[in-house]
Amino acid sequence: MYDPLAIVLAAIATLTVVLFSALKGTGWEPTPDISEEIKERRAAAVPETEFPEPGNRAIGGGGGGGAIPAGGDGEGGELAEGSEEAAGPGDIPEDEIEHFEIEFLKQGETIEVANNETILDAGEENGWDLPYACRQGQCVSCAGHITDGPSEDYVEHDNQQMLEEAELDDGYTLTCVAYPRGSFSIETGEAP
Ligand code: FES
Repeated sequence: MYDPLAIVLAAIATLTVVLFSALKGTGWEPTPDISEEIKERRAAAVPETEFPEPGNRAIGGGGGGGAIPAGGDGEGGELAEGSEEAAGPGDIPEDEIEHFEIEFLKQGETIEVANNETILDAGEENGWDLPYACRQGQCVSCAGHITDGPSEDYVEHDNQQMLEEAELDDGYTLTCVAYPRGSFSIETGEAP
């Protein structure tokens, strides 16, 4: 028949397996997420160094010395790039600003306008209610007529997209994007 010892051993083995399975099922816990903790620790460590941010990345790489000037260059480069992108007829250095006499015929007044200011802005600053809509050279609401000749002899347009060559030659201008390059007379509210 059956050996009682074998039965007892089999029972113990079975219990052990069941017990382990039970423990496995209930005792396991996920590894706690310590990524936030690590990030915080790293963040806390940064101010303790004397390197600026680009230098920190170079710590241990031997590039700390180069990283600082590189950061400086980067800033300069970005600025230069930014100013290049933004460069337009109105971006004139302080020491190159000139003023021209612009006669607003309908208003019966002559005012001085800086070469970094649009005709429209200058007129508005003088208190006149001049027509405009987009202020970006993309409509003709602000058009005016320079009576002295081709408008581009007297103003520089910043990306005007509406007037054709012949209209510019006839003296028409979009005052919202027109920067003076000489003195002239203009009739505002005149579209071709
Ligand atoms: S307001 Fe639209 S082009 Fe001047």
